[in-house]
Order: sequence, then C-alpha cells, then structure tokens
Amino acid sequence: MDEILEQLRRDVAAATDSKQVEQVRVKYLGRKGIITTLAKNTDFSRLSSEEKRSFGQRLNALKSEAEQLLKEALEKAKAAEKDLVRKVAGLDLSLPGIDRRLGSIHPIALVQMELEEIFQGMGFRVLAGYEVELEYYNFDALNIPPDHPARDMQDTFWLDNGMLLRTHTSANQVRALETYGVPLRAIFPGRCFRNEAIDASHENTFYQLEGLLVDRDISVAHLIAVMKTLLSQVFKREVTVRLRPGFFPFVEPGFELDVQCLICGGKGCATCKQTGWIELIPCGLVHPKVLEFGRVDPNIYSGFAFGMGLTRMAMMEFGIPDIRLFNSGDIRFYEQFPAAF
Ligand code: PHE
Repeated sequence: MDEILEQLRRDVAAATDSKQVEQVRVKYLGRKGIITTLAKNTDFSRLSSEEKRSFGQRLNALKSEAEQLLKEALEKAKAAEKDLVRKVAGLDLSLPGIDRRLGSIHPIALVQMELEEIFQGMGFRVLAGYEVELEYYNFDALNIPPDHPARDMQDTFWLDNGMLLRTHTSANQVRALETYGVPLRAIFPGRCFRNEAIDASHENTFYQLEGLLVDRDISVAHLIAVMKTLLSQVFKREVTVRLRPGFFPFVEPGFELDVQCLICGGKGCATCKQTGWIELIPCGLVHPKVLEFGRVDPNIYSGFAFGMGLTRMAMMEFGIPDIRLFNSGDIRFYEQFPAAF
C-alpha cells in the first residue's frame, strides 16, 4: 500500500491541469481504480481476523490520504487555470482600481452661473454680445469722446480692420436697447480685453457681468436695492454697501459701490487695506445720451447700469489672492472647486 501511495504522489505531481488530476482520481479511486479494487483482489480467506482488521484500517487510511491529496491538487490546478484566463484576457483583478478624475468648474464660471441664476430670479434676461466689437458700441454710443484716453493703443487692443476687442461689457448696452427696446432688464456676462501689464491684480483678459435695467421712474434706490439683494445672495449673509461718486461717461450720476469688508466685518484688515470697505461694483444711472443712442426717450425712461468684475467677485467669494491663478492652468488650483453647480 505504501507503494501505491508513493505512485499516487508522483502521478498527482505530474498532473498539470484539472483534467489530468481527474484522470489520476479515476485511476486510483474510480470504480475500477487501483485503490477501489485493492480489497476485491485480496484473498481474505487466507487472512486471520487480526490481519483482516489491520488491512481494513490501512485501506481506509490510504483512501482518505488519496482523497486529500487529490482534493488539494484539484484546487491548485483550478486556481492556476483562473490566473491563466486573467492573464490571457489581460485582466488582473489584483490591480488597484482606476480613479477617474472628474473635472471641476472654473471659479469664474461658477460665479457667473450663480449670478445668472440670481438675476434670472429678479426677471433679468441673460444676453451675450461680441468679443470683437465696433468702436461705435464700445466707445461712441457710450458717450466716450474720441479723445478719451481709454481709446488709446496702450489701453485697447485694436484690430487691423478698425474693430477692437471689447474693453468692457458696457458695449452691450446700446446694442440691447436697439434690439429689444424698453422696458429692458438684462445682464451680459462675458470676456473683456485690455492692453495692460499683468500683475497680481491685473490681467489683459478678464470677465465682467454687465447689468442694464431701463423702465419708467427708475432711481438710485432701485439700483441699491438690486445690488444689495444680489450681494446678500452671493455672500449668503446681509451685506452693508455704500456708494461713492465715480466717473464714467455713460452714467450720470456714476458711483463706485463698496461692500463692507466680508473678511474683517469693517474693522480693517489686509484684504480691505485697513479701510473696512472693498470697492466692488462700478454703476450709475444710464446717461440720457446713451438712452438716445439706444433710441429711447430719456424724458420718459430712465435706468441704471452696473459692471461687475467677475474676477473680483470670484476672488472675494473664494478668497483667491492672486488674479494670475485664474489662467495659470495649475490643476492644484482648479481642483479645489466643485465638479457640479
Ligand atoms: N464699464 C465700466 C468698466 O469697465 C464699468 C461700468 C459699467 C460703470 C456700468 C458704470 C456702469 O469699468
């Protein structure tokens, strides 16, 4: 019997796949297998009862040993076959999963989407203009005189054909009045360009969101109310604003709207340069001449306009210290913003 066990061990070791292991099993433990027929081929009549018992015990031990060996061999062969399938199919289930990167929304786009939603809630329509604009809409129709320094080569990107890259979204004002007439409530988010040296707070390409409301009996009170509502929603708290006089040829009176510093609450800090206030939105009542350029009678209608810098808003809302980060292409910056609005 020891010989049989030895031989079985050799056969099992030689079996390279589960089919061969099965063949070994049949050879030893099948109906006509070596171990199965061992008892049949033994002449028990010549054995004493003591010998019979001992034979029976050894046979049972051999059987269970054989079964154990075959079971282990089969498990090993099956595992090896699985590995082979994965390898051939190019599938390695032990590899760590692939972490698919979700893009995130650019902070300026985030602010723009947020503002569009708020203004739409106040009945404004969202319109788009042209990045390449006529001198007329960017300057003349806004009451900016021909000798105004803003028209200078140093401030404006002029194209060979006499057109320009719009220097502000205000270029949409007269276009919209011409197209839609009054009453009008519209915002115009978009990209603007200025021929400027780049530093921590200046870019030659930046985003503005222009707003224009023209109707009967519109006053500064309406302007302030809309600005306060808007800022409270953006910054998710009550904000304090103040108006200072500001000059723009296309508004009269013109203002700089300041918001009380959201970082220090007005006490004075580095962000507000110790003043307690942050200059946020230039605005004013639409100049009668602009209404006239838009073919609107200034004796019947009045309105207000404002030109928010989306970049400035995003810097305030998210606490971004350097304007150059926006166009840096630095993934570590962009990754900090959500993937969905
Ligand atoms: N267009 C002006 C600028 O770019 C901002 C502005 C818009 C001022 C509307 C008053 C009214 O600076």
